[in-house]
This record gives sequence, C-alpha cells and structure tokens, in this order.
Amino acid sequence: MDVAKIREDFPILKRTMCQKPLIYFDNSATTLKPQPVIDAVMNYYMYLGANAHRGDYEMSGQVDAHFEGARITAQKFINAKYPEEIVFTSGSSMGLNEIAIMVSKKYLSDGDVVLSCESEHASSVLPWRKSEKDIHVEYIPLDDEGKITMENFKKAIHDKVKVVCIAQVSNVLGFCAPVKEMAKYCHQHNILIVVDGAQSTPHIQIDVQDLDVDFFVMSAHKMCGPTGVGILYGKKKYLDELDPVFYGGESNARFDKCNILLKETPLKFESGTQPIEGVIGMKAAMDYISQIGQENIHQHEVELKQYFLSQVKDMENIQIYNSNAQSGIVTFNMFDHGKMIFSQDVASFLNTKGIAVRSGTHCAKLLPDVLHVNSTIRASFYFYNTKEEVDAFVSALKEVTLANCVDIFF
Ligand SMILES: Cc1ncc(COP(=O)(O)O)c(C=O)c1O
Repeated sequence: MDVAKIREDFPILKRTMCQKPLIYFDNSATTLKPQPVIDAVMNYYMYLGANAHRGDYEMSGQVDAHFEGARITAQKFINAKYPEEIVFTSGSSMGLNEIAIMVSKKYLSDGDVVLSCESEHASSVLPWRKSEKDIHVEYIPLDDEGKITMENFKKAIHDKVKVVCIAQVSNVLGFCAPVKEMAKYCHQHNILIVVDGAQSTPHIQIDVQDLDVDFFVMSAHKMCGPTGVGILYGKKKYLDELDPVFYGGESNARFDKCNILLKETPLKFESGTQPIEGVIGMKAAMDYISQIGQENIHQHEVELKQYFLSQVKDMENIQIYNSNAQSGIVTFNMFDHGKMIFSQDVASFLNTKGIAVRSGTHCAKLLPDVLHVNSTIRASFYFYNTKEEVDAFVSALKEVTLANCVDIFF
C-alpha cells in the first residue's frame, strides 16, 4: 500500500490546524474524504440533479441508474444475498433506531429482553430502552480487558432474551466481538441478532451471509463517504414482514381513503427524498475502499498501533487500556505524578500541535463501569496515517504535563 500516493487523494490533508500540519487521529468519529468521493458528490450536483424514482426524463433515469447502482455496490460490499436487503438510511444510529422500533413492534412482547453489552455505543442501547413496549435491556459482562467472550455471552442468554444487539467492533476499545459464533448460538435459541457495523465496515471485509446476522448497520462517513447516509441490512424474510417507521414520499405504491399499498422491500423503507448525492458518494467510497483492500487497510492500522505501542512502552505517564485489541484504536490516559490529567485537557494540548484525537466517554457511557475511569483519550488510525505522524504524536505526548495542558487555556 503506497500511503504517500493515497494521501494525495485527500485534499484536506494539505490543510493545517493551529498552524501545524494536520495529524488526523479521530477516524473512529469520522473519516476524511478522498477526491473520488468528492467528485461523485459534485457530479450529482453539477450534472445529474434530478430526484430518484420520480421522473420520466433522461436525466432522472440517469439518477435512478446511479442510485440503484449504488445499492448493488453496497450489496456486494457486505455480500448481502439480494440488493433488496439494502435499505438506505442516514447512518448507523438511524438504522439501529428503525430496527429497534420495527422489531419491537412486530416480534417483541412486554417483558422480553434485549441483550447488549457495557461497551456499547448509545445508538445500540437507547433505542431499545425507549421502546414503546416494556423491553428490558441486559448487558453481557465483559472480561477483564473489556472484551465479549463466548463464555460470558452464553451465560447471559436465558429464555426471555429475544434479541442480541452488539457492535462488531467497539468504538472505545476496538475489540472485535465473535459475531459469527454469537449468531450461530442466537439462531439455535431462536434469538435475532442485530450487529452495529459502524466501526467494523471501514476496516475489515464484511460478509453478512457468512456471519449470518439478521440485521446489520453501517455509516458511510466512517469509511471515507459522505455524512448523513448509511445502510440498514436485513434478511429479506424479515424486511418483507416488517412495517416501516416512516410513511409518505415514494414509499407507497398507491393509497385511497381506506387502504395503503406500500412498495416492495426496500423502497417501502425509504420514504421521502433520499440523500441522493450521499448514496452516490457512498458508492464511490465503497469502490475506493475495495480498491485499496480491507486487508491492507486493517494491516496498516494494526502496524501503526503496534508501532505506537513500541514507542510509548517506556513512558511512565501513560496508561493504555486496549493494547491487545487488533484494531487501529488506542485508548489511554495521561498522568502527572500519578494523578490523571483530564482527557479533554490532553486533547486540547494535542490540538495545539495540530493533532486531532477524541476525548471523553465516546458515546459509550456505561464503559466507565468497566474501565473504572470517567473518560479516556482515543487515537484512531486509518490507512492514510503514517509512522511519521505517530512519531509526532509520541513527541507531543512526551511533553504532556498537567502544567502544559492547563497552560494552553491562559
Ligand atoms: C459503534 C458505533 N455505533 C454507532 C455509531 C453512530 O454512527 P452515526 O453517528 O453515523 O449514526 C457510532 C459512531 O460513533 C459508533 O462508533
């Protein structure tokens, strides 16, 4: 993988932050966009222009071809069996909310349990907790490192568990859940499995048929695509049975004063004008990622992480919480004379060096119960990051003291 060449595809990498070259290590929050994605979005605005599925003229036909072409690309990207299993959404949160609403309404009863885990992102847990039905959310206990193990998972299953909803890769610790084995176990016990792929799809090859998950969501912006667009995958047999959350727009075939006839799956779930330029940009992002290859992407990120770990191993003022996670996420805190420095102060100090990281609880608000700290700093590497950037990061971390971090506010 020629990282120097790849970096030329990202115009934003030429900008500075705080008068320093930008070092972007906040890729779990969102990723930067390469020129082919920007061009695809621009092409919609500059050339295609029309709405999708509505017009009878050449230009609108071209939009339909791009829009439905993107669905086929998405189908292949996650290896869904049918293009109909791909529903466009605004992203993972919306997909997870829609699944929780539709599945609760159709398949769940008061008192049923949805099993999640303590490292989950709010978007996987809260939609079930706010269900119209009296659904109880229970949590798979994590092991000492913060991982889901099959042993703990099996122990957490009981008769009332009807759905398991977990992230394939945790956005805080970067551990990968044993999704394929979990899905097999779920199906042996008549349990549906919903997988949040927001943090896995950008980094590893996804094969929903091989994983045999019932529902899967992802966000384009976390894999070089536009914001405000993503995918909800569902097995066709379930999507055909479920009632959409939203009505109106082009999702109905016809209606009169008594009856509504919805379009077939997946269009019945796509009411209103869709983010057409986003869908087209997402297709370009999928093509771009596929061309680089998820294996290369994953290997490069893990190499950067290992390199980072080797460079900080003798530093006494850093505590890393996820050294063993096989991903490009490093979660840590900095200390001064044994006292933890507030993560946001460290992030603000790094900002003065042009380095973007995330600080806080990273939308996984239950995790402090496991890590026993209120907040952490997260550096998340992607394929356009370099060892030289890691060197600059380590040098900056070596300068971190409470006084230095607090000084920037004066
Ligand atoms: C694991 C996980 N799930 C869901 C989401 C929500 O994604 P989006 O903001 O694109 O809806 C995120 C975003 O940080 C995430 O990391």
